[in-house]
Amino acid sequence: MTTIDTDPDTGLEPLEFAVTRNLAAKSAADRDAILASPGFGQSFTDHMVDICWSVRGGWHRPRVSPYGPISLDPAAAVLHYGQEIFEGIKAYRHADGSVHTFRPDQNGSRLQRSARRLALPELPVPYFLQSLRELIAVDGAWVPSGDDQSLYLRPFMFAKEAFLGVRPAHKVAYYLIASPAGAYFKGGVKPVSIWLSEDYSRAGKGGTGAAKTGGNYAASLLPQSEAYENECDQVVFLDQDRNVEELGGMNVVFVYKDGTIVTPQSDSILEGITRDSLLQLARDRGHHVEGRNVSLTEWREGVASGDIVEVFACGTAAVVTPIGTLKGRDFIDEQPSGTLALELREELTNIQYGRAEDKHGWLYRLDA
Ligand SMILES: Cc1ncc(COP(=O)(O)O)c(C=O)c1O
Repeated sequence: MTTIDTDPDTGLEPLEFAVTRNLAAKSAADRDAILASPGFGQSFTDHMVDICWSVRGGWHRPRVSPYGPISLDPAAAVLHYGQEIFEGIKAYRHADGSVHTFRPDQNGSRLQRSARRLALPELPVPYFLQSLRELIAVDGAWVPSGDDQSLYLRPFMFAKEAFLGVRPAHKVAYYLIASPAGAYFKGGVKPVSIWLSEDYSRAGKGGTGAAKTGGNYAASLLPQSEAYENECDQVVFLDQDRNVEELGGMNVVFVYKDGTIVTPQSDSILEGITRDSLLQLARDRGHHVEGRNVSLTEWREGVASGDIVEVFACGTAAVVTPIGTLKGRDFIDEQPSGTLALELREELTNIQYGRAEDKHGWLYRLDA
């Protein structure tokens, strides 16, 4: 068990995790073979964390156990009504061997916001942080050290109560699993092509767009297939007023020729931590940053007139991806290519991997 002090902000005592080691853990040789070419989301570490919650008992029974199947009652509410939320965050190995993550307090509070929207209990942020450290304490060797490699951490929470009534579940489980991740772009960052979804929306006003909940991603799969059919890599969604929202799993950022940076902001968009960090780095360079509605017309006309000089997408998995093409049912707009997206990408990843000074105090050490 990791020993830590009472949280100074919340007064919460740390949880006491019961740790059961995986006796069938992968050998160092097998693990190294996976880490040599991990891909994304395919292999998982030897352990997982879980914490139970119930109306009566609050958060209880924190455990670290061997990674493996979860036993669920077929009537578990999540299987019927999708009461589920998740997060995505990475652990990075620095040159001195230490393991760090990036702004985990932000993921912890976003998990709480998602929980509120999905009527799930809010995991206190100190417990969230402790869960990350507990997993790294047993599976730290799974954090790869290759270029642009990381250990992707996937916290999630779901309604496990066996009850078919439609109401917030009285029993919930929080889990944390981890999966080694390779460089997202093999052979360098490449601009992506984006399909404009006209028939399907991702979120509606007052809906769950700002929450990281499985249903939003389920709803994006059909339009994403449409993107593939149209030979595009990703899909971009509009709101009911034809304002740009975001991609299936990334935020969108526009760079204007006077240096202004604009990003869509509304309560139907997931507030990305990567975007927030990149925009801070841009402000540090003197850019003016605006969060506001951007209509499809403003995007298309801005590119045509030369007012918009760069468009990029950003998120934890790919960090920053320049957008090369926007394709709709009856148009293809080539997007201007600039250098800011890749410069900010480099600056951000240098901080994450410990190659540059962490001026904003964004790193959080997981292995000490
Ligand atoms: C729908 C959606 N938007 C935006 C993002 C970017 O968020 P973050 O930068 O916190 O990864 C993600 C990815 O997590 C996402 O799934």
